[in-house]
Amino acid sequence: MLLLTTTLGLEGGVSKEVKSLGYKIVDSLTGRVLVDADYKDIPFFNINIRTAERVLYVVGTFKAQSFDELYENIKNLDFSFMVKKPYVRVVKVRSVNSKLFSKRSIQSVSMKALVDKLKAVDGKVPYLFHIYARKDKFIVAVDTTGKDSLHMRGYRKKYSKAPLRETIAASLLILSRYDGKFPLHDPFCGSGTIPIEAYLIARNIPPNLKRNFSSENWPQLKEVYKIEREKAADGIKATKPEIFCSDIDEEILKVCTENMERAGADVKVFREDFKKVKAYKDFGIIVSNPPYGVRIEDTIWKDIHILFETFPNWSINLVSPYKNPQRFLKISPDKTIPFLNSGVRVYFLQFYKKIK
Ligand SMILES: C[S@@+](CC[C@H](N)C(=O)[O-])C[C@H]1O[C@@H](n2cnc3c(N)ncnc32)[C@H](O)[C@@H]1O
Repeated sequence: MLLLTTTLGLEGGVSKEVKSLGYKIVDSLTGRVLVDADYKDIPFFNINIRTAERVLYVVGTFKAQSFDELYENIKNLDFSFMVKKPYVRVVKVRSVNSKLFSKRSIQSVSMKALVDKLKAVDGKVPYLFHIYARKDKFIVAVDTTGKDSLHMRGYRKKYSKAPLRETIAASLLILSRYDGKFPLHDPFCGSGTIPIEAYLIARNIPPNLKRNFSSENWPQLKEVYKIEREKAADGIKATKPEIFCSDIDEEILKVCTENMERAGADVKVFREDFKKVKAYKDFGIIVSNPPYGVRIEDTIWKDIHILFETFPNWSINLVSPYKNPQRFLKISPDKTIPFLNSGVRVYFLQFYKKIK
């Protein structure tokens, strides 16, 4: 099994993408999605998955209610996929509703079991372990992604004041059912994360084709990485998606354009107040992240109805500080997805009735 980690609240975006890639979901947990996939699928997921932060390989699962049980169960796991003298660390522990709850103790017992079994902590090839416990059921998993998590695609060198993470932008697009067939507009584009991720989706460009991963030197994976990179590159479509984006701030649009160039994204970028943007097609999809913060939201949201009037047949999907902005809008969202954006609780409001 593989365990994909993600932003709290956006597990649904990961599940939707995983299913569209032809894999089955075993379980969806808080900030994590368990996938029915095996060791040889690690390269495919690291290169292709858009919505996850990390790909972990699940070494084993078991029940433990005492530290002796935890120690013995870890020692009995199959570590034959690893190199002979690994560098081993337990880097993350989480325990929810379990008899063993002290993170520090879980970490040191797990570490002792790993070192006793594997006889090394200071080898060259790193294996960084995550230990999760929920209702006494443990998952022992090892990170395959590496130092930089998967949102670091490499095209964003400069940011707006409140940029969306690339993986979050991809989730919001997938949850909005964007697949490149309809026009897309982001009227608050900032540094361009949403339109760039939309371009990558529309042309089936793998988000992490060009970067490296810590599992590349693991036994049997070097060749699989090579094959998966070739397959992923072959899958890029030659289509020309209709993607537009705008923002009121001239300076941020320069950053946006630079990011687009680095990403190789062909998107129409223009300066405009969202209240004056025109609809150039009868229908399409808006996915956007209007500014929020103390007081700012009211100045934007009091006029947000203009978007709905300008784009009457478009599916409109907005990140909002309000669960239901009844004060500003006559219609209620069809779906509301709460999630954490940089530690702030926000809501992804979807008004999609009209584009079914
Ligand atoms: C939260 S940021 C968007 C961040 C973007 N998703 C990113 O990843 O960089 C909100 C953007 O709305 C823009 N903005 C504020 N007022 C606006 C208006 N009246 N019309 C259009 N854009 C506006 C800001 O300049 C800012 O770039």
